[in-house]
Amino acid sequence: MNLKGLILSGGTGTRLRPITHTSAKQLVPVANKPVLFYAIEALKNAGITDIGIIVGDTAAEIESAAGDGSRWGVRITYIPQEAPLGLAHAVLTAEEYLGEDSFVMYLGDNLLRDGIEGLVESFVKNEPDALILLQEVPNPEAYGVAECRGDTVVRLVEKPAEPKSNLALVGIYMFTPLIHQCAKEIKPSARGELEITDAIQRLIDEGKQVDAHVVHGWWKDTGKLEDMLEANRLILDALEGEIRGEVADSEIHGRVIVEEGARVSSCTIRGPVIIGKDAVVHDSYIGPYTSIDCEVEIRNSEIEHSIILAQSKVIDLRRRMEGSLIGRNVRILRLDHKPEAYRFMLGDNSWIGIV
Ligand code: G1P
Repeated sequence: MNLKGLILSGGTGTRLRPITHTSAKQLVPVANKPVLFYAIEALKNAGITDIGIIVGDTAAEIESAAGDGSRWGVRITYIPQEAPLGLAHAVLTAEEYLGEDSFVMYLGDNLLRDGIEGLVESFVKNEPDALILLQEVPNPEAYGVAECRGDTVVRLVEKPAEPKSNLALVGIYMFTPLIHQCAKEIKPSARGELEITDAIQRLIDEGKQVDAHVVHGWWKDTGKLEDMLEANRLILDALEGEIRGEVADSEIHGRVIVEEGARVSSCTIRGPVIIGKDAVVHDSYIGPYTSIDCEVEIRNSEIEHSIILAQSKVIDLRRRMEGSLIGRNVRILRLDHKPEAYRFMLGDNSWIGIV
């Protein structure tokens, strides 16, 4: 069976504004690596080397980040989607690229700890018409929800107000070309999208074999700030420490990565933490679950459980920063001239919490 990969990387990322005003949500880094790259690596590790990426308004940015895929030893084809009209619409957009091949569809903002190797093997071996992944969640109403009888899926509903189970659909699916016909037969949902959940339901209605696997390792859909921070925590938890940059007069506890060209001086760093290339961290405390991207500058400040993107500066903060996602090229500084007042320049949909 020839398997292709299809990564969905359109979408507007409204729940991650203002970060997504200037950057695609799939390119927000987790442990200093764009979420999208984890998807490419997962497909590659499962032996899939032909990967189509569905792109929307942020196409140029996605293409310049992932390129032709040669860095991973895969071939990437970019497939523009006219508008984010749903996951099943994305499948239809890719119909020509996919041809008669079966494929793994991977939502570009999803992260799955254990990868998909075993699941792809089972799909190839058992040859169902589709294979879906499920996980128990505390808030199923935010997802597609599966109702199962024993091992069989009987019903799938997209974001039901009254979920019949707590089994959410993970954003990674395996399909045979049969899905194209089903995607053509469904109507847009209440949110105006062609839902893949409805297309899979059609397969079930037609008596096709839809296998379901409940995933036990962690899974994260990184569409919101809390999920992003949680994903960052989970990924950092699995990293080994390594000091490749310069560390002077500092205490390093636990697993800390200091990348090449980074300079850490007079600091206490309590891992898991990653400090990116050419970052400067001086006279500061960096606490667990913090990712500091390349060329960031931090002086005389305390930061914990946060993600700071490239080229930002945090200088002389009086209180500890935590649970924060700071975009690129942001400046948080202390002013030393009168009047002693807050001064902000914040993009649309920004928010700040002060103490
Ligand atoms: C989409 C799917 C939903 C699935 C979720 C997983 O939701 O429609 O069924 O559970 O991805 O991440 P969306 O991110 O479009 O709200």
